[in-house]
Order: sequence, then structure tokens, then C-alpha cells
Amino acid sequence: MTDKFQALMIDKKEDEQSVNFVKISEDELMEGNVLVDVTHSSLNYKDGLALTGAPGVVRSFPMIAGIDFSGIVKASEDEKFSQGDRVVLNGYGLSENHFGGYSERARVKSDHLLKLPDNISNKQAMAIGTAGYTAMLCILGLEDWGIKPEDGKILVTGASGGVGSVAVSILSTLGFQVVASTGRLNETEYLTGLGATSVIDRSELSEPSRPLGKEIWA
Ligand SMILES: NC(=O)c1ccc[n+]([C@@H]2O[C@H](COP(=O)([O-])OP(=O)(O)OC[C@H]3O[C@@H](n4cnc5c(N)ncnc54)[C@H](OP(=O)(O)O)[C@@H]3O)[C@@H](O)[C@H]2O)c1
Repeated sequence: MTDKFQALMIDKKEDEQSVNFVKISEDELMEGNVLVDVTHSSLNYKDGLALTGAPGVVRSFPMIAGIDFSGIVKASEDEKFSQGDRVVLNGYGLSENHFGGYSERARVKSDHLLKLPDNISNKQAMAIGTAGYTAMLCILGLEDWGIKPEDGKILVTGASGGVGSVAVSILSTLGFQVVASTGRLNETEYLTGLGATSVIDRSELSEPSRPLGKEIWA
């Protein structure tokens, strides 16, 4: 018999969705080889969809909500992790087909966990959230393609959104000249504050391009 802890559980009975704080025990968690005491989770758009019953996020019921978490390892069957390690998990089906981060404890696969570096706190990891993590993955992808600030202006679409706004901020910090494309020109000040060198209306990108036109973006 293990201690009970709190979790935010989504359930569905006869097409009626319910969301409740429940008390559960470790035995009721799903399979995995690392047990984590969750300290933080973020609130992603996808969490909003799951909690309001929009189709396509939660794949099986009952399901603990929360698409990400940071926490401290309580026990691990994988030698890559030890008790006390600070860890983060973004995505990997949390709150879709595996119990998520809106829970005081989680059991997950070690392959889905990353150790947090000393200079990022658990709270900061979740302030970055899955949106910020996604933006950084995109930027690492650009780096893999060898794209550098001296290659010219770089375009961020959906710039005022969750992923886009973090991308604008990181790319400008890395020294890129960032052109932010947005459908909300009233957010121009916000975007230049994040580091965009210029802001364009997203409708400009829908205009037909000229044959043999010059490449514009890095
Ligand atoms: N958030 C995550 O954790 C995450 C993880 C993996 C993948 N993704 C994917 O990354 C993309 C962006 O996600 P997000 O969380 O940043 O979403 P978001 O906050 O809703 O931002 C999306 C942005 O796209 C722009 N947009 C909206 N309608 C558009 C249209 N019809 N044509 C062109 N642009 C339009 C808007 O920016 P403007 O008003 O500035 O134009 C909007 O803010 C999505 O495809 C999402 O599925 C997100």
C-alpha cells in the first residue's frame, strides 16, 4: 500500500466528460521505469483542448491531464537516472495515452525523460514549457542545416503565437535579423520588444511569387 497523492483526472462516461481532482496511489499509475515527484507543469493550448473535451487529444479514459512536467526522480530502474535527479518531460503522449503532468507523481519511460542542466530550475523548465521547447527544437534544426546569422534575414511565421514568440526571442538573441510575420499587426510593439527587426503582415506571404524571384530568407 503506497501513499495517496493528488492528480487532475479527465474521465468520460456516455459522451459526458468530467474533470476532477482525485486521490490515487502509485499502483494506479501507468507502466514505466522511472517514478518522478512532479514539481511543475505548464498550461499548453493542448491542455486547454484536453480539459474542455475537444476531440483528438485524450485517446483513452480515465486520463491524467498535463502534456509536460518537471520534477525530481523518486526511484529509477534505469541506471541513467538516480533518486534526486531533476528531470523534464515534454510531450511523448502525456495526457493522450499516458498519464500526464497534472499529478503529484508520475511513472514514465526513462527514454522520454531528460536531465535538467544546473542552470535551469524546474520552474524555469516549465516556464519555457512545451511551446518553448518546440521553438528550440526548430532552431536546433536550422543549426543542423548550417544556417547562420550572416546568411541573411530569417522569417518566423505565426510570430505572436506560443512557439513563434519564443523563436523570435531566441533567434534575435543568437544574432539573427528576425522578420516576424503575423496576422496581428497590433502586436508589432510586442514582437519588436522580443527582438524582431521588422514585422510584416502574414497576407504578404500569400501573394503569388514572381518567376525566378530572388531568395529572400536565410
Ligand atoms: N505549442 C506547442 O507545444 C507545440 C508543440 C509542437 C507543435 N506545435 C505546433 O506548432 C504550431 C504553432 O503552435 P503554437 O502553440 O505557437 O500555436 P498558437 O499559439 O496558436 O500560434 C499559432 C500562430 O499561427 C498564426 N496563425 C493563426 N492562423 C493562421 C493562418 N490561418 N495562417 C497563418 N498563420 C496563422 C497566429 O500568429 P499570428 O497572429 O502572429 O500570425 C497564431 O498565433 C502549431 O502548428 C502547433 O500544432 C506546437
